[in-house]
Amino acid sequence: MDKFVVEGGARLRGEVRCATAKNAVLPLMAATLLTEEPCRLLDVPRLSDVEMMRRILRVLGVESEFDAEGALCTRLVDDAPREAPWELVRKMRASISVLGPLLGKRRTARVSFPGGCVFGHRPIDLHMKGLRAIGAEVEVRGGFVEATAPSLPGGEVFLGGPFGSSVGATQNVLMAAVLAEGTTVIDGAACEPEVTDLCRFLRAMGAEIGGMGSPRLVVRGVARLSGAEHRPIPDRIEAGTFVAAAVLTDGEVTIRNCRPDHLRAALDKAVEMGGEVRRVGEDAVFVRRQRPLAPADIDTHVYPGFPTDMQAQFMVLQTLAHGVSVTTEKIYPDRFMHISELARLGAHVRKEGPSAIVSGVPKLSGAPVMASDLRASAALVLAGLVAEGTTQVHRVYHIDRGYERIEEKFAALGGRILRAKDDDENAAVEAVAAAQKA
Ligand code: UD1
Repeated sequence: MDKFVVEGGARLRGEVRCATAKNAVLPLMAATLLTEEPCRLLDVPRLSDVEMMRRILRVLGVESEFDAEGALCTRLVDDAPREAPWELVRKMRASISVLGPLLGKRRTARVSFPGGCVFGHRPIDLHMKGLRAIGAEVEVRGGFVEATAPSLPGGEVFLGGPFGSSVGATQNVLMAAVLAEGTTVIDGAACEPEVTDLCRFLRAMGAEIGGMGSPRLVVRGVARLSGAEHRPIPDRIEAGTFVAAAVLTDGEVTIRNCRPDHLRAALDKAVEMGGEVRRVGEDAVFVRRQRPLAPADIDTHVYPGFPTDMQAQFMVLQTLAHGVSVTTEKIYPDRFMHISELARLGAHVRKEGPSAIVSGVPKLSGAPVMASDLRASAALVLAGLVAEGTTQVHRVYHIDRGYERIEEKFAALGGRILRAKDDDENAAVEAVAAAQKA
């Protein structure tokens, strides 16, 4: 198992290029189930979650391979399979996104019911409600969601839930509705850029979708979809992680291949907390620290609000701000696994219901910490980059799920970070110390 060894104190400087968005790519891959023709997804990041989705597609009869330009090319070899097994689904919740396209195309789907995760109970009631509303029969049997639809007339559905709209449910209903016999209206649709990106891909395949980017999507079913080529949107969560890192380390970083319009809430918060942000052309931002870190309250919300997937990274800024900040989770009230690890570095954070009250401290000091989930791991790496001394972040396989070679990107910006085997502790610490002297 790998870990990161991070020596704090370096100011990050230079340019970094974001990958395409994992959360866009995974449903796009699932959408390739909707056609018999090959598809080509450009610039797909090499992530373990992408590998997992490739395995699921293979089980479902779609082969995929990377070409020389880094595009993922898919090809249908067998349209008979209808089942996504527990062994695969349990490893990646996003596997549930094959439910909609399987139902739409093959009219029967059997997908293992996904479990909860470290940040709490994660229901799929809205996915099932939406698929029922467009005419499918949906049951939970033997740990599987079973959906069948000899005919799929389409229908009207409201997908708002207790925590706002659901990205995954919107995507699943969309992917089934594009091949329905009639028209579907989704109200309370998620407006996240990853949903819009999926709409763009589906339209390139021949789907008829209106209201893209709005909470009301209107889908007129078509008889068949063709293959398509598509470049997924840049990863706004990775970009936001670098925004936080630049402000945190008093650095100066130009973040390329990012969409500033997708990052408004994070950029706004970065400025409030002491950063300066300048747009550089259409697809880049320059970020640096302008004044001492100021406290700021953060409420996570659905898009265009502050994303839950950036909450942990920005909490690191709060831990070093001069004053008290409150973070309130409006999407996943229990998504605070990083608090106890940040405390190991000297942070003062108290959890109070769905909120974390963060009292800024003058400094963090390095320690061994344990990554618990993807974004919490990123936060621990950020904390390590600014903490005094050495921080070892264990279980970095979490981070490899969603960030492509993050340690190389930080190192290229001047961060002192190395990947090491968990049993190779001394060698790694010495290597970081040597790099520091050099
Ligand atoms: C996606 C992202 C994840 C991000 C999340 C919220 C992917 C692969 N993952 O997850 O990184 O943190 O959006 O932006 O794109 N809910 C229900 N019933 C449902 C479905 C969801 O109550 O049927 C609730 C969830 O528990 C949560 C909220 O709705 O509180 C939002 O979840 P949702 O948007 O569905 O998240 P995912 O699509 O699973």
